[in-house]
Amino acid sequence: MNSIAHDAIALAIIGGTGLYKLAELHDVETRQPVTRYGAPSGPIRIGTLAGRRVAFLARHGEGHSVPPHKINYRANLAALEAVGARRVLALNTVGGITAHYGPRTLGCPEQIIDYTWGRISTLCEEEGTDVLHVDFGDPYTPALRAEILAAASRAGVAVVDGGCYGATQGPRLETKAEIARMRRDGCDLVGMTGMPEAGLAREFGLDYACLAIVANWAAGAGPDPDEQITLQEVLANVEAAGAGLGPLLHAL
Ligand code: HPA
Repeated sequence: MNSIAHDAIALAIIGGTGLYKLAELHDVETRQPVTRYGAPSGPIRIGTLAGRRVAFLARHGEGHSVPPHKINYRANLAALEAVGARRVLALNTVGGITAHYGPRTLGCPEQIIDYTWGRISTLCEEEGTDVLHVDFGDPYTPALRAEILAAASRAGVAVVDGGCYGATQGPRLETKAEIARMRRDGCDLVGMTGMPEAGLAREFGLDYACLAIVANWAAGAGPDPDEQITLQEVLANVEAAGAGLGPLLHAL
């Protein structure tokens, strides 16, 4: 992995669908670390936000060219670590399943169920690497979750505290039956990128928490069970919900 000279990075932010850059960053410099796991989804933009250096990476690439199952999650986290990040705020665009998570809601989930398959989900993949069995009972770092919720409260931004994120394979959206099963399993939110990112962050020893942006009702979950989910709706709702993001980040 490259060793890069850097100012201390207070926070790394990984942006999801509809969040390809952070307007709040000033004095931006760009880094392109290549890691032992390969190249990240795109450049890392490091800028100043509320007086602190913050690193930003677009999870799908800045032109949204990398689908969820093709993202090199290990390289993304390794690249953020290489520029000095120790704490990661993951912004994930999701569908809402249960009543508290309607479109345009911001949520800070505390649990995950992983339905993805075939993704490299560990740093132990290569032969000869140490076998890790990290504790993952609380998949998001409780202290970082608490900071996010406190910042939201200071900024007057409504964020739903808790809930379970169900990570699906994508890139297609789910069937109504899949969402009904996820609801029975206890999922409140559904997205395609929450895993293996959170598990890898734990293996890297990074603090990691998710701020989920609800873009739509998941299939069959809303008041009109036959409503179709469109990319237009997703992007419009992410943009609307994103209005709370700037104040929250300034307060964090
Ligand atoms: N399902 C999975 N991922 C998503 C959704 C959804 O309904 N909306 C935004 N990301």
